[in-house]
Amino acid sequence: MDAMDVYESALGLIGGTPLVRLRTEGAAAVYAKLEYLSIGGSAKDRIGLRMVEQAEKDGLLRPGGTVVEATSGNTGIGLALVAAEKGYRSLVVVTDRVSEEKVNTLRAFGAEVVIKPSGHPRQHPEHPMSFAAHLAATTPGGWLANQYDNPANPEAHYLTTGPEIWRQTRGRVTHLVSCIGTGGTISGAGRYLKEVSDGGVQVIGADPASSVYAGGDGRPYFIEAAGHFLHPDTEQDVWPTSYHPDVVDRIVPVADRRALHTLRQLARDQGLLAGGSSGTALAAAHEVAAGAGADAVVVVILPDSGRQYLSKYFNDTWMLRLGFLDGDADAPRVADATPQDGDSAALPYLNTRTPVGDALNVLRARNLAGVEPVLPAGPCPAGPDRRPTAPELAGSVTLAGLEAALQDGGATLGDPLSDHLEPPLPQFGYGEPAHEAHGTLARHPRDTAVVLRDGCAQALVTSSGLSALVPTGH
Ligand SMILES: Cc1ncc(COP(=O)(O)O)c(C=O)c1O
Repeated sequence: MDAMDVYESALGLIGGTPLVRLRTEGAAAVYAKLEYLSIGGSAKDRIGLRMVEQAEKDGLLRPGGTVVEATSGNTGIGLALVAAEKGYRSLVVVTDRVSEEKVNTLRAFGAEVVIKPSGHPRQHPEHPMSFAAHLAATTPGGWLANQYDNPANPEAHYLTTGPEIWRQTRGRVTHLVSCIGTGGTISGAGRYLKEVSDGGVQVIGADPASSVYAGGDGRPYFIEAAGHFLHPDTEQDVWPTSYHPDVVDRIVPVADRRALHTLRQLARDQGLLAGGSSGTALAAAHEVAAGAGADAVVVVILPDSGRQYLSKYFNDTWMLRLGFLDGDADAPRVADATPQDGDSAALPYLNTRTPVGDALNVLRARNLAGVEPVLPAGPCPAGPDRRPTAPELAGSVTLAGLEAALQDGGATLGDPLSDHLEPPLPQFGYGEPAHEAHGTLARHPRDTAVVLRDGCAQALVTSSGLSALVPTGH
């Protein structure tokens, strides 16, 4: 009798994802590998399975054991579904910047989720990786998956993703484009494709523009799970050993705005709802395809689904607030009340390490026409070409506040501003309707807000600047 055409468990539905041709402008063919069609919704299912099975083989994970991991979400989901199927407990540590959808998915698979504040350097005990290591060490039967340094991560892609691409393209693939997070996907799939093609396949990394992999300074960016962020207080920048830079021929930096618009366009034009890092990868793939010949076959990995980011990248309110959308040009916008780039009144800010004495000098120098200066305190180093990103705006300071603290002995001139911060200013995207921003600011104790463009502080806007644009009645 013929065997039934069925799967014996969810684990059989990990990987095996299709390639679909994308409509592109150039002559080269571009195929997207839809990793979101893996059973847990991302490329990370593959490593979840491989890391768990290797740990079982090595005797590191035993019946009744607990799988522990720090993750931006997808690896946790892959591990949690494998753990659920195999009867292990799972404990996942994420930061508060991971999307709500991912946290809810983790919980749905039975994972216990620990949410830690973002913004700690790697060596801090509350950093997710340090905390996960602590949990694994103190939980009986605990095993830390550690995707960043686990050889089973790139190996999973060497054994599955790479061979699938080779088979699906009948060996015609010429370029592989992939994001780099832990580096597992590009290192494993890239190494396989290079080996099997005798070095014929070009391997190209796609990276958020400020990520360290692409040569950026490591400041925050808004694409989850891709790239390498560097906290300014990081003592030693350690790259994951799952990333093998020798496999990568070149890296294409992609600004968040371009990644996000590419992503939204893909859903609207081609019916493919992919996640943020897919936008980064696809924008890079377009660039690669444009420079390749008509015979080129470019494969781009789309790691996960847009359904995980409906509250962010596909949400116009989120996009507008961070300054990734222009807004409605027919009505007054926040930008219309904002000094333009290059204007001497463009955003002044102090950084958190500035001594109180220096900050007072700056504030006094700017105290023109009786306006109370309120300066956002950003990261270190700060400067005209290093604008803080929204999450880095640590707080604000005022002349009156600092003078009062000096007078009552609560501050000394040498204290860093970080010891004397007041709450951050409200933030508006440059494309937001002026009347809405005005309404919000009117209800706020401060009269000044930060204007964001592409997720970065661009200027300050005041209530009076906005009110001049708002018809009476608003
Ligand atoms: C959505 C998404 N994109 C890209 C990546 C990067 O893949 P890798 O870690 O294999 O480099 C990840 C990894 O977590 C991811 O979840």
